[in-house]
Formats: sequence, structure tokens, C-alpha cells
Amino acid sequence: MQTQHRIIFGNSQQMSELENGSVQLMVTSPPYPMIAMWDELFAKTDPKIADLFKKLGVDGCEETVRQIYDAMHENLAKVWAETYRVLVDGGIACINIGDATRSINGKFQLYPNHSRITEVCEKIGFTTLPYILWKKPTTKPMYKGKGAFLGSGFLPPNAYVTLDCEFILLFRKGRLRKFPPKDASRYESVFTKKERDEWFSQIWSFKGTRQTVTDLERRTAAYPEEIAHRLIRMFSVKGELVLDPFLGSGTTTKIAIQNQRNSIGYETDPNLLPVITRKTQKNTKEAIVEIIKRQKN
Ligand SMILES: C[S@@+](CC[C@H](N)C(=O)[O-])C[C@H]1O[C@@H](n2cnc3c(N)ncnc32)[C@H](O)[C@@H]1O
Repeated sequence: MQTQHRIIFGNSQQMSELENGSVQLMVTSPPYPMIAMWDELFAKTDPKIADLFKKLGVDGCEETVRQIYDAMHENLAKVWAETYRVLVDGGIACINIGDATRSINGKFQLYPNHSRITEVCEKIGFTTLPYILWKKPTTKPMYKGKGAFLGSGFLPPNAYVTLDCEFILLFRKGRLRKFPPKDASRYESVFTKKERDEWFSQIWSFKGTRQTVTDLERRTAAYPEEIAHRLIRMFSVKGELVLDPFLGSGTTTKIAIQNQRNSIGYETDPNLLPVITRKTQKNTKEAIVEIIKRQKN
């Protein structure tokens, strides 16, 4: 089976290339609100966020931080709403997201991105499904919001629980999908009992699976291929269309190619073109990969 893959350099807040109800699955990991490495990107794409960061520089006020957090989620919400539009009835949206911690004026606080995204998606109309916790291998415990426990980290009560899990939030648009009896593509996409038992349990720790990524991938915060692999196999059928509205280094496209799904990915950063090309080009015998640069973002 030859599959088709489109990589669109443009903003996924508007996915005009996609018709209503034309995508079976969305798999993605957005920039994480309140994680410092994404501040600049949010400020660049949204003048309101840029202004709020300027304001924070002057007033250093907690209320301004709250406004920044809200504005970052409003920014992402446009993509979740657009995803809802393009998904078929019964289509699934999988969002890999981490919560964030941050100290502002010496006050340490959690920003629970996963719960905010869940609320936003429910308002859009999605049905929330049980989520997955991806247990990450590293990260040392924290003391007073600093990277690692210091000596007094053994004494109560001022240490914090480490954020060593990320969420894979799962949502469905509308009702369960229906298939004709004995649908061939569906049967060809079957998973094994071992896969089912492992993939449909709530904690994923990828024991024995490579979780490391290259330096460049780390800079784009690429997720492990195993995440995309499992989600694509769990929630789509061979030959269907998988969307990633925050494509980054192209992991979702690469894994869609490997699993005989079609795909479409959106990315705003043109500097990622060589990384995406490298990740996806090896597979062109089975897949046609088209790179599209929008005239206007
Ligand atoms: C966390 S990274 C995705 C990493 C990806 N899962 C991978 O494995 O490489 C998020 C990406 O979304 C891109 N991005 C942010 N806002 C966007 C938008 N509105 N439309 C398209 N891409 C966007 C960023 O440039 C960044 O590369």
C-alpha cells in the first residue's frame, strides 16, 4: 500500500487544506504553556502574549503570570477547535502534554496544563476518555523548586514531588466509529494480545524501549517514536489519515509511514525542514511525501 503524506509549513490554527470530517486521528504534542523553552515561541505567534511578558517585566505581578498562562491556553485552544472540525465523527485526538512548575518572585507553583486542556476540549465538544501517564525515565526530585534535592531535602516539609510523568490525553469527537462487518483494513490493523494488554494500561514506562532522542530532537522536544507508534496503532486503521498539528521534527509522519497510514502535519518553524526531511525521506518507496509552504501563514 502506498500512502500520502503532506507536511505543511503554516499555522495549524487554521487548517484550510482539510475539509470538515476528513481526519480519523490526531496525535500531537504542543508547546507546553509555562515551560520556559516555549515562552519565546508563544510570544512570537501571539502579540497579546508578547505584551503580557513585557508587562511582567515591569510589574512582576502574579496576576500577570496568570494572564500569560490563560493566553497560552487560548492560543492552543484554537488548534483544538480546528482539530474538532476536521475529525470524523468518532475520531480520536491524542495530546501529549506535561504540567509545568515555575517560581515567580520566589513563589513556586504548579501549572496543570493537562487539566486546562481537558476543560477546554470538553467545552469545544470533545468527550474525555481515560488518559495515559507516560513515566519518564530521568528527572531528579526537587527541593524548593530547584533541580535536585539538597542536603535538607531529607527533612520535611519543604520538598516537592517530582514531575516525572507526562500525560497523553485522549478525546473523542461524537460517537463510536462504525465499520462494516469483517472490514478488511480493520482486521489487517489488528494488535496482538500482548500489545493490547500493554498499550491499553494507564502507565507507560517503555521498559526495554529506547527513550532517548538526538540533540536536535531534544531542542524540538520530540516525543519517543514509541508514543506515536502505539497511538497510531491503537486508534486508527491502515490507510486512514493521521494529523499532527504541531509536527516538530516529524516523528508522527515517520511513524504513520511505517504503519501504512496517510498523514498531514503542520509546523510553523521553517528551520525544521532538514530535520523533517531526514526523518521521513528514508521511507519514500512506500510513501509519497509532499512539502508545502503556505504563501501566507
Ligand atoms: C513540542 S514540539 C513537537 C515535537 C514533535 N512531537 C516531535 O516529535 O518532534 C511543538 C512544535 O509545534 C510547533 N508549533 C507551535 N505552534 C504551532 C502552530 N500554531 N502551528 C504549527 N506548528 C506550531 C513548534 O514550532 C514546535 O516545533
